[in-house]
Amino acid sequence: MTDIRSALNFFRPQLLATPFLTATLLLAQSPAVLTIHADKPLHAVSPTLYGLMTEEINYSYDGGLYPEMVRNRTLRDGGWEQQDWQLIQNAAAGGAMAMDKTTGPSAALPNSLRLTATTASQAEPVGVRNNGFWGYPLRPETAYSASLYARADSASLGAVTLSLVNNATGKAVASATLPTIGTDWKQYSATLRTGQIIPSTDNHLEITVAHPGSLWMTLVSVFPPTYRNRPNGFRIDLMQRMAGLHPAFLRFPGGNYLEGDHISERYDWKKTIGPMVDRPTHPSPWSYHSSDGLGLLEFFEWCEDLDMQPVLAVYAGYSMKQEHVAPGKDLEPYVQDALDEIEYATGGPDTKWGAERVRDGHPAPFKISYLEIGNEDEFDRSKSYDGRFAQFFDAIKAKYPALPLIATAPVTSRKPDVIDDHYYKSAEEFFTDTHHYDNSDRNGPKIFVGEYATMEGTPTADFGAALGDAAWLTGLERNSDLVAISSYAPMLVNVNPGGMQWHPDLIGYDGLHSYGSPSYYALALFASHLGDQVPQSEITGAGPRVFDSVTERKSDGTIFVKLVNASPTTQRLHIQLQGASSVAPTAKLIRLHAATTADTNSIANPSHIVPSETTVPVSGETIDHPIPGYTVEVLEIKTK
Ligand code: AHR
Repeated sequence: MTDIRSALNFFRPQLLATPFLTATLLLAQSPAVLTIHADKPLHAVSPTLYGLMTEEINYSYDGGLYPEMVRNRTLRDGGWEQQDWQLIQNAAAGGAMAMDKTTGPSAALPNSLRLTATTASQAEPVGVRNNGFWGYPLRPETAYSASLYARADSASLGAVTLSLVNNATGKAVASATLPTIGTDWKQYSATLRTGQIIPSTDNHLEITVAHPGSLWMTLVSVFPPTYRNRPNGFRIDLMQRMAGLHPAFLRFPGGNYLEGDHISERYDWKKTIGPMVDRPTHPSPWSYHSSDGLGLLEFFEWCEDLDMQPVLAVYAGYSMKQEHVAPGKDLEPYVQDALDEIEYATGGPDTKWGAERVRDGHPAPFKISYLEIGNEDEFDRSKSYDGRFAQFFDAIKAKYPALPLIATAPVTSRKPDVIDDHYYKSAEEFFTDTHHYDNSDRNGPKIFVGEYATMEGTPTADFGAALGDAAWLTGLERNSDLVAISSYAPMLVNVNPGGMQWHPDLIGYDGLHSYGSPSYYALALFASHLGDQVPQSEITGAGPRVFDSVTERKSDGTIFVKLVNASPTTQRLHIQLQGASSVAPTAKLIRLHAATTADTNSIANPSHIVPSETTVPVSGETIDHPIPGYTVEVLEIKTK
């Protein structure tokens, strides 16, 4: 790897120097020294240090990871007829479209869209169109699974045609005909297959009839191929991006999404399981309605697909508009809901809720690694969390004594196993806080940094944010005897207009493409180069914007040195290895570097800042190594 910019940074000051400045600069340029005592392990590194946090925000699921293409498929989101669904009429064909609140396929979905065709023919059909989530992202030679629940007023309505239509040409790029629709509610399915098209999001769905009559429909679905072909599964590129972060766990379902604005809008898990037609959907606190197509079971399946340990958060009786459930009798049904939820995930077929999971298609139980009671309960001004936490704690520990419980705010009534701390800060604040946990009590609860982010960059974190995040993570690694788990938040953002409710985010996408922010790559670098113990090390003479962390993999003696230079100029570094019986003659160097802190990646330029790999020479037990300005890097040193 040749880095012209850093070489220039290194030499330029000498060209300008006066004798006095020369002396000062030489002093300033004497290398920092990092001494690593490979034979003196201080403590183990938590194997769950790096994971993911998720919730329905920024169109993370609907319009994102849950790749359903039909927006507002059950018409539960307001304004459906203005933006999502529209009537199609032709010159010699007419009709109407309305919400019918008197008929639907299930108790959960009691409404439907009624299409009334007054005049229609094969040449001039009548129908409805759905505009999708910023269009329909279609690829060539791809099979899309379409389905809908429907009924007709009479068999004379005839066949119903489903078409994916290009907005620019008005021509169908895939279509299928459903047989005559019956007069009772029933699900109909078809496959829509594209040919040699150019990948594009500039498409919509049309559902048309060629004869007069009425057609009622809801739960209209068009699903692309999914990661590992899981039915009702996940968007492939986003799963691959997440896999690149090497996550040990997934924290779900939120965040504010767990709490809801109101108690009635909380994450009510029982309404998110089973067949789609039995899921009523619910309003989320992030300004749009959730389809709940990605429901509780799907969260666990997501963990299964990426080999992540589930960190499940249960609703704990507080919603964000300062509504809370008083501890005691009132809270009992919520505690019972949490117990049922654990049983749904972990119970055998002989348990009530375990049997329900088996019926839902997943016979094998899941293991929950941590259970979190609520989210950010310090915001509950009634101060009821201590009492609520105690009630959940007692009931859950009585049935699941080994399950580690996470509190989301300080409590005194019980001793939680873990406390969830959240940090949204500027890069500058993170730089000055990397020693946050150095002197924390080692006999208290473990720490879960359940949400953190350097608040720079939009929609996704820029390189300045990556420096802040990486500096912060060096502190978490050094303290990973105490900090058991950590996750960046929020993870996903749909970068289309109106898609974002919070920035910065880690991974950005539109319908067809996705990219990782510089923070994504910094985090991936850290998580994929993690030893299992922290050896003793000291750094001296480094600038105030230089941060480091050293971990070691016991099995093969690999030492991972993470270095962050958040200053604009090169930091020279002399690494001295002690206590290793032999050291390989070269070390691998993986570097993430940018010219400015504002540098970033985007949909248009997804790979502007990505890691590059090279080797550096090791001389005996030393490495002399300049770290260019604005750099996050890992040195992988093989010792025995
Ligand atoms: O990450 C965005 C939000 O920040 C989360 O929903 C909430 O827990 C926190 O306040």
